Amino acid sequence: MKNDVERILLTKEQIDEKVKSLAKEIKGAYKDKNPLILCILKGSFIFTSDLVRALDFPCEVDFMQVSSYGSGAVTTGELVIKKDCSTPLFGRDVIVVEDILDTGVTLSKLMPTLIERGANSVALCVLLNKPERRTVEVNADYIGFDIENEFVVGYGLDYAEKYRNLPYVGILKREIYEK
Ligand code: PRP
Repeated sequence: MKNDVERILLTKEQIDEKVKSLAKEIKGAYKDKNPLILCILKGSFIFTSDLVRALDFPCEVDFMQVSSYGSGAVTTGELVIKKDCSTPLFGRDVIVVEDILDTGVTLSKLMPTLIERGANSVALCVLLNKPERRTVEVNADYIGFDIENEFVVGYGLDYAEKYRNLPYVGILKREIYEK
């Protein structure tokens, strides 16, 4: 697995430090709100598990898996909910946790859906942000790292379902995804 990585972009230590500072920021706004931490599967499972362990105040956790038809500038396609969360969102302060904000298409559809379900507030926390790739405006409230437009894997992120279990974020060798 390691041999398929061109170079490490973010070490485990850099990520750990960032998770702690994001948790501190989130605590400032949510410590008395019992927020619902909504992990968007699959990519976000590792980031979410580290983040919630760094939140030293009451919160709840649930999971959703979504995808969107259409890519690039196509914003009219439907949001496909592959797995739904079981927690009623009415009146809740929701923090959506994502591994990566890329074109913005998925989140531009998901966030209004959560509001429609009656959430009191919906915030977005992403570990990685690729601003260069954005085709739809999405505002993230908490951002771990702005990164270049590289093919990244690890710490939850995959290529063809592999590499999610790497403890760091690495840039995949071009020959792996171009073969
Ligand atoms: C990734 C990521 C977001 C979405 C972002 O999920 O977790 O949900 O893509 O892309 P966008 O900004 O271009 O919409 P992916 O579809 O790769 O699924 P996975 O998390 O299960 O790997």
